[in-house]
Amino acid sequence: MNTQPKQRVGRYDLISPMMACRDEILDKFEKFLDSGQYILGQEVRLLEEELAAACGCAEAVGVASGSSALFLALAMAGVRPGDEVITTPYTFDATIEAIILLDAVPVLVDIKPTDLNIDPVKIEEAITEKTRCILPVHIFGAPADMHVIQDIADRHGLEVVADMAQAFGTLYDGKPCGAFGRMNTLSFYPTKNLPGIGDGGMVFCRDTEDAERIRKIRGHQAVRMNGHLYTGWNSRLDEVQAMVIRIRHARFQDEQRDRDEVARIYDSHIPQAHRLQTPNGGQGMKVTHHQYWVRAADRGGLRAKLDAAGIDTGVYYDPPMNHHELAEYCRMPGSLAEAERAGREVLALPIHAALPFDDAQRIGRLVGDFVSSESSTES
Ligand SMILES: Cc1ncc(COP(=O)(O)O)c(C=O)c1O
Repeated sequence: MNTQPKQRVGRYDLISPMMACRDEILDKFEKFLDSGQYILGQEVRLLEEELAAACGCAEAVGVASGSSALFLALAMAGVRPGDEVITTPYTFDATIEAIILLDAVPVLVDIKPTDLNIDPVKIEEAITEKTRCILPVHIFGAPADMHVIQDIADRHGLEVVADMAQAFGTLYDGKPCGAFGRMNTLSFYPTKNLPGIGDGGMVFCRDTEDAERIRKIRGHQAVRMNGHLYTGWNSRLDEVQAMVIRIRHARFQDEQRDRDEVARIYDSHIPQAHRLQTPNGGQGMKVTHHQYWVRAADRGGLRAKLDAAGIDTGVYYDPPMNHHELAEYCRMPGSLAEAERAGREVLALPIHAALPFDDAQRIGRLVGDFVSSESSTES
């Protein structure tokens, strides 16, 4: 339980959770040094088994980063030059970079204001004969509408690859979000809920053949698929990262409980129109809150108020990917007004397992008062 209030409240605390397992990490590290098994040893293998089971998938393949995971998953889902991949503009650069690196075309469609995830209605409108794949992103740890998206994909003969970089532990309809679609990709970047102490990523595969191909490619073996020869490359997950991630995975549920409590405190202060509303009224959904976001028309004012109170906040995807310099490679068939509005209005509050609950109460009250007075001036 978190009780110690601090001076300035940071958005993340990357160090405390690592310090809590410092001795275990150092002990394992010494054994690792002695083992000489520095590349693709037992830690990567065990992590793959443990996370495949946790995500309800046949197999998981550890790779160099969440970005590599996206590239490999899209390639093995059959995305080829000139194909279109429908995705969201309200995401991190890596999502569209992976598509462009395959000489395919990101097709950006708008998001829903309630959960900031891709709007399935807009997906259906954007499908053409060139569409190969739908790439939802479970943004900030909230699940995209996977049943609806899969249904669209099935009706149009498309693949679904989901970017779950921010959503380890997230449930959709009672199942881990990694259990949906053909493949799912994860990042172990140190700010993520299940972090390493460096770069790392994973591809979750429903089909063991996809996993086999990705295992080959990550270790310099060429792969032939659908008549096309894919080159191998070095995209291996580092053994030291796997070792640390396994230790953190054993503590994941405890840490998540603390993040959940922080989110519950924020929810109790912030009116629902200004924060996440999960699909199906939250039934069967579990949000892991990689970010806890709040929406304010005067985001700058709210940010300044929190800053003056010693509270750090974050701004994401402002502007969204339709303004990125890579947008010239993208197709944008319709309005992206909700993504633009999210870019302007959304503010990420501190959330991590070591955040004192007293701080969360104080932040929640400040934010709740600010957005409530905004709503009353609007009406
Ligand atoms: C939505 C999303 N996709 C992909 C990535 C890329 O992951 P990595 O930094 O491990 O390459 C990130 C990381 O920040 C992300 O947030």
